[in-house]
Amino acid sequence: MNYCNGSWVEVDLRRLRRNVESIQRGLGRTTMIAVVKSDAYGHGLAGMARGLRDAGVRNFAVAYPAEAETVRREVPDAERIVVLGVATPDDVPLLLRDRITPVVVSLDQARALSAAALAAGARLRAHLKLDTGMGRLGFVCPADVPAAAEALREPGLDIEGACMHFAIVEPARHPEAAAGQAAKFDAALEVLEAAAGRRLFRHMSSSRAALLMPECDQDAVRVGISLYGYGSARPDGRFATEPILQWKSRVMQVKSVPAGFPVGYYGAYVTDRPTDIAVVSCGYTDGYLRLLGNTGDVLVRGKRRRVAGRVSMNWLTVDLGPDSGVQAGDEVVLLGEQGGEAVWADELARHCETIAYEILTDISRQIERRYVG
Ligand SMILES: Cc1ncc(COP(=O)(O)O)c(C=O)c1O
Repeated sequence: MNYCNGSWVEVDLRRLRRNVESIQRGLGRTTMIAVVKSDAYGHGLAGMARGLRDAGVRNFAVAYPAEAETVRREVPDAERIVVLGVATPDDVPLLLRDRITPVVVSLDQARALSAAALAAGARLRAHLKLDTGMGRLGFVCPADVPAAAEALREPGLDIEGACMHFAIVEPARHPEAAAGQAAKFDAALEVLEAAAGRRLFRHMSSSRAALLMPECDQDAVRVGISLYGYGSARPDGRFATEPILQWKSRVMQVKSVPAGFPVGYYGAYVTDRPTDIAVVSCGYTDGYLRLLGNTGDVLVRGKRRRVAGRVSMNWLTVDLGPDSGVQAGDEVVLLGEQGGEAVWADELARHCETIAYEILTDISRQIERRYVG
């Protein structure tokens, strides 16, 4: 038997459907735009697009036009696929063909996209992106609102909507931060809708704002991390979701070693008693961060076991304890649950001083995603 084929990811589509239902129930009439950029936060874009389609989702957001193309292929009847990054004139044939909605972040870009659309004999549906305090992409409010109003008049663009992104969502400690951004957005929209002579489809909240600030819903919210089950576990919240991604591997070899046995590079772990050491098929090349050396736990035979020593490129070592009974071929849960125990991305993120988003999106794209349920 070959135990060295590396790790795999399992995505639970039944749980995904429950997450979607919970979010949509909490949102009520507000449209949910599912954020599936970055390979659906590491869950696999095509598989997630299909899973979301089957859960009834028809609005999506991505970072790049190529991602939007994948979503259109999987969800031919998607209502909107919004590209949150910056599309260029070269992207316009694809955007038109696949009915993809770019955001417009500047007047220059608006003119360039408009010209490319007209050259193709069509008008391009787009959303304005307003910078109300994130300091990232978009027309700065209020300084660039006149430029955004000019963009509205570009003949090759059919500007359907407008959006922004919150930099701070801390309604308990800093309510003024998000409220200030929302007020800037509303003021800009008043000017822009007057200029357009019509209402624009508005969206500003991502998961945390959708969870904590329902008053900011507008027409739609862009939900990413909550869909994947993080940041919204509280059952008394507006919605509650559970992680849907598990990352698993297998034990390649088990060895019984004496006390004082050094494990891995530089002997960064030395056994303090006779014990069993498992070598597991996963390493930092797969996205299992080196920072988890000597700190991360994995699950083997339903028990938490500590990563022993440094994480190598393709392998990691685990102290199983004495007389573990673990054998080569046994399943190892790097992220997920087994026998009533669970290790989720927010736990690994704490060890690595990062956020669950980064743990999830760091899982190598080369690892197989399996969809279950
Ligand atoms: C512009 C924009 N909208 C929405 C989201 C989704 O955020 P979250 O995953 O926190 O819901 C992101 C995520 O990075 C984003 O950049």
